[in-house]
Amino acid sequence: MGKTLTIQPVSRIEGHAKIKIQLDDAGNVSDTQVNVIELRGFEKFCIGKPVEEMPRITTRICGVCPWSHHNASAKATDAVLGVDPPPAGKKLRELCNSIAYMEEHILHFYFLAGADFVLGPDADYGIRNVIGILGAAPDIAKNVVKSRHMAALMLEKVAGKAIHPAAAVPGGFSRPLLEEERKELRKMADELLELAKFSMSFAKNNIFPKYLDVVKSLGVINTGFLGTVKEDGSLDLYDGKLRMMTADGSYEDFKYEDYTDYISEHVEPWSYLKFPYMKKAGEFSMDLDNPNGIYRTNTLARINVCDKIDTPLAQAEFEEFREKFGRPAQQTLLYHWARLIELLYNAENTIRLLDDPEITSTDIRKKVEPRAARGVGCVEAPRGTLIHDYETDENGIITNVNLIVGTTHNNAPINMSVKSAAKDLIKDGKYDQGILNTVEMMIRAHDPCLSCATHRLDGKIGVKIDIIDPEGNTLATFSN
Ligand code: MG
Ligand code: NI
Repeated sequence: MGKTLTIQPVSRIEGHAKIKIQLDDAGNVSDTQVNVIELRGFEKFCIGKPVEEMPRITTRICGVCPWSHHNASAKATDAVLGVDPPPAGKKLRELCNSIAYMEEHILHFYFLAGADFVLGPDADYGIRNVIGILGAAPDIAKNVVKSRHMAALMLEKVAGKAIHPAAAVPGGFSRPLLEEERKELRKMADELLELAKFSMSFAKNNIFPKYLDVVKSLGVINTGFLGTVKEDGSLDLYDGKLRMMTADGSYEDFKYEDYTDYISEHVEPWSYLKFPYMKKAGEFSMDLDNPNGIYRTNTLARINVCDKIDTPLAQAEFEEFREKFGRPAQQTLLYHWARLIELLYNAENTIRLLDDPEITSTDIRKKVEPRAARGVGCVEAPRGTLIHDYETDENGIITNVNLIVGTTHNNAPINMSVKSAAKDLIKDGKYDQGILNTVEMMIRAHDPCLSCATHRLDGKIGVKIDIIDPEGNTLATFSN
């Protein structure tokens, strides 16, 4: 009859998910599913709202990633209204994007993923968490808490508030940056750059060498990648063109407003999360031996698709990474390494923006008028390429919304990495807590934000519901 293992909740991620592992009679893995069991539904209930409200409404999608939604939404709203904000307005948005990135990447590396590496994948559940990190490395943990707080203070200075901001407005930014504020921010940015440098050397000396063998073998899948680059091919996180790379390393660049020509969305009855895939590949398949159309986003994807990074410290790390792991690097656990390269880039980019004389310009906003149009906005969220796509009527009222969120792109790859790791680790019915946590680590590497990503709602139940008895037998199933 086989047996089903369930890991619920998957911990140290944003949002709620469970992992189902199906064993066959011999106790080997026959199938796995990562079920996403929450629903946000913003695609539906934003319909009927004035488009100028969207940058404020959509920050509420998520308390972790509000800046990514805020900026993508402001860009989509600009596009709907046919306005190009003044350079300083765009730079202030990008500044907030870069500061928010640092807060996110620090959180993930040290507190969400870090416990697995600092304390070990099979450390006791009771200490494999932020409290365990505090005990094992108190000075580092204190510095991390202080730095995240500082990043939040920086966002407050630029935008009035760090979470659920309202500063990016249609046509630009709502307030200019004052020279005194710029000077204060500049000092804080130096401190964050120091933490970014420390994090990279700490990881390269103390963490990565210990796990390199695991990184090279565990949860490795073969996929394409999607990310944003500038015209010259260098990494960009706020604006640029999209680059879709196939597993063999060849790629095609396109404008983000043309995303529907390149991306299709597959659905499965057991998840609220859709499965985007490369339209040009034809059929969607996340079969481990024969995947088709699958691509990944988030840190590793961006480091794979870009040709270079236009800040010196991040560029040096990028060169070392590419030399070591090639292009595209497929190892799932390399997401962590790529994340630290991006942390450095964002620290350097924040300083570059603060040193730009234009950042204190008072010309930050253009006037807008409602009209009937469609507009697409796109940024690289810490968790992957984020697309907001709106349509309005002649009064500027929203008639259609499509969101493709960073984590959504990674749905199929997350499922594939989990399956690959579970098949490698669980043999002859033997498993323990450490093995199940190592399977969870495949999800954590992708740093998913599930609260951001579940907007599927087509007027039906949505997901399949199983009623299961204490022995694990399915008594009844409800679905559409
Ligand atoms: Mg969508
Ligand atoms: Ni989120």
